[in-house]
This record gives sequence, C-alpha cells and structure tokens, in this order.
Amino acid sequence: MIRIAIVGMGSVGRGVADIVGKKDLGIVITAVADSRSGRIDPNGLDIPALLAQKKKTGKCGESGRSALDIIQNAEYDLLVEVSPTNALSGEPAITHIRAALARKKHVVTSNKGPIALAFEELQNLAERNGVSLRYEATVAGAIPIMHSLEHGLAGNEILALYGVLNGTCNYILTRMAAEGLTYEQALLEARELGYAEADSTYDVKGIDAAIKLVILANTIWGNRVKLSDVACTGIDLLTAESLKLAEAEGCTIRLIAEAIPRKNLLRVSPRILEKTHPLVVDGTLNALTLETDMAKEITLIGRGAGSVEAASAIIGDILFISSSHVKGA
Ligand SMILES: NC(=O)c1ccc[n+]([C@@H]2O[C@H](COP(=O)([O-])OP(=O)(O)OC[C@H]3O[C@@H](n4cnc5c(N)ncnc54)[C@H](OP(=O)(O)O)[C@@H]3O)[C@@H](O)[C@H]2O)c1
Repeated sequence: MIRIAIVGMGSVGRGVADIVGKKDLGIVITAVADSRSGRIDPNGLDIPALLAQKKKTGKCGESGRSALDIIQNAEYDLLVEVSPTNALSGEPAITHIRAALARKKHVVTSNKGPIALAFEELQNLAERNGVSLRYEATVAGAIPIMHSLEHGLAGNEILALYGVLNGTCNYILTRMAAEGLTYEQALLEARELGYAEADSTYDVKGIDAAIKLVILANTIWGNRVKLSDVACTGIDLLTAESLKLAEAEGCTIRLIAEAIPRKNLLRVSPRILEKTHPLVVDGTLNALTLETDMAKEITLIGRGAGSVEAASAIIGDILFISSSHVKGA
C-alpha cells in the first residue's frame, strides 16, 4: 500500500482522489490540501466524504491548514503536486516539491512550472534523497510519453520530436478549417465549451506548447534548454483565408512543436501539413511523433487534458514508483 498526499484539489486533484476511491489500486490518501485548507488522516481519508465536502464548502479540510504544513507534517510516501501552473516563478509548486523531496518523499506532478523552470535542481534533490520525481501528466495529458521513452523505446536514440501539444489551439484550428470560422469565432466557441480559459494567451501564443517542448527536450537530451530558447509563434494571427488556401491544396494547418538537436532547432509554429499526416488530429486531441534510430517514427495520439485523463498519467506514475521503490507495496 502506498500512502499519498494530494496538494491541489481542483479538476486534477479531485480526479485522482475519485479514481483512488473507486479502484482497488493499493493507494491510500492520508493528506490533502487546497488553497485555503488541509486535512490529515494517517489511516486514510474517507474519499467520498472528502469530495462531497469540497463540493459543498469549496474546502477539502480545516481552514488555515496550509499545503506546506501538510507536506512537512503528514505521514505519506508520495506527494501528488497538482496546484496551478505558474510558468514565470514555478511557485508555490517548487517550494512544495522541494519540501517533500527533502523529507525523502517521492513526488508526482502535473504542474509544468517546476519541471520547466527547475527540473535539474529538483531531479538532483530527488536523487540525493533516494526518491523519484515523475511528471508524465505535464505533457500531453493521458499519453504515456515519458513511460514510452523510458521503457518501450529504451536503447533508442531520439533524433527529433514533433508534436501537437496544445488542445485549445488544435480545437480552434480544426473548427476554422471545418466551418470556415474566423480565429475569434473559433476561440469564442472553445471558451463556451470550456476548452479555452478566459485568458488563453499562453495557449494561443504557443507558450504552453513551448513549455511542454522544453520539458520534453530536457527529459530526452538533458540539454538544459529554457523557454527563451524556443522560437515561438502562436495561432492568434492566422486568418480563415490561410486555412482555406491550405484546404484547397489538400492540406491543413496545425500548431507544431518541434525539437531537432542536429539542426539546433527548438520551435513552436503553425505549419501546413497534408491532411493525411499523422499529426493532423482533430479537436482537443494531442499527438507526438518521435523520430528514433531503431524504431524509426512512432506517433502517439490521445487526450491532452481532462480530469480523469490527467489522473490516468498521475496514477501510472504513482503505481510505477510504488512497484519500484516502496517496500511492502
Ligand atoms: N486540467 C487538466 O486537464 C490538466 C492536465 C494536465 C496538467 N494540468 C496541470 O495540473 C495542475 C492542476 O490543474 P487543475 O486543472 O486541477 O487546476 P485547478 O482546477 O485550477 O485546481 C487547482 C487546485 O490547486 C489549489 N491551489 C491553489 N493555490 C494553492 C496553494 N498555494 N496551495 C495548495 N493548493 C493550491 C486550488 O485550491 P482551491 O480549490 O482552494 O481554489 C485548487 O484546488 C495545473 O498545474 C495544470 O496546469 C491540468
């Protein structure tokens, strides 16, 4: 049995708790925290009661109990850090993750901020303390990219990667092409359906995809790249006319994140692709092509976001750590 603490009880945190409560996975939740409250029970929290309380009161526990207090004082083996992403400072997640690793607790996160900004430091801290830091859910939601790289493709040299890593942009481009909508109309529709945030600047300017590209590049090549190393162009200036022109040639446009070390290339930009290209996925789907020396090209396609989809990646990481580290699991 692995004991987890969850920090962040939003869409992803609640998704993880719900699955842990419904499936017999050998996982018990001994602590939770949100922005204003926290709760600890070394014997395991009552998950339906916890989720009902969060829904009713907006709080998962007792007022005034901070996430850091929970991380530093609760009994658990692994921290699930699912607080909001801050791409500029990485906080409060960097502080949370540091505190857990310093206590020799494993960490699983879906939070891009700390992994894009402080990966090397946090990875070193994890190693020094003999624990794992895993972050499958930070890139492309439910698609098991990190696991594929580490296991299925072990021994392969990764020569390049190309990906559709932002579901909001992909939805907008799909709708512009299918219905002849303008960028503004498609963005409005994406907002109404909950696929785009009220402030979707990070998505439509390609920054979210660039952050994910940085995470992938550092994971694969360990080349210490930063967001400022990515040449980034979003989709916000694309016209309905450009989509129509591409359509007339049997093509369409997708926001592609690409990393090709042999060309020193790290870029996010709208690209014209033939409609039959494997990266031309529809709606909010994500896709990633890895170019490798032995397996050649492999394309993974799946859901890039969603409560249960992100929980799938997080639970995969927890169970991997549980089977490889935790005694008696
Ligand atoms: N949603 C997805 O599909 C998805 C997919 C992949 C990755 N992610 C990433 O996963 C993380 C969580 O996403 P989400 O959609 O669950 O976000 P969310 O719905 O906005 O929930 C965030 C949660 O974090 C809590 N929180 C805020 N500040 C905190 C603090 N200082 N200490 C402790 N908890 C704090 C919030 O508390 P309150 O409840 O009190 O407001 C809330 O419970 C983000 O980093 C996101 O980028 C999300």
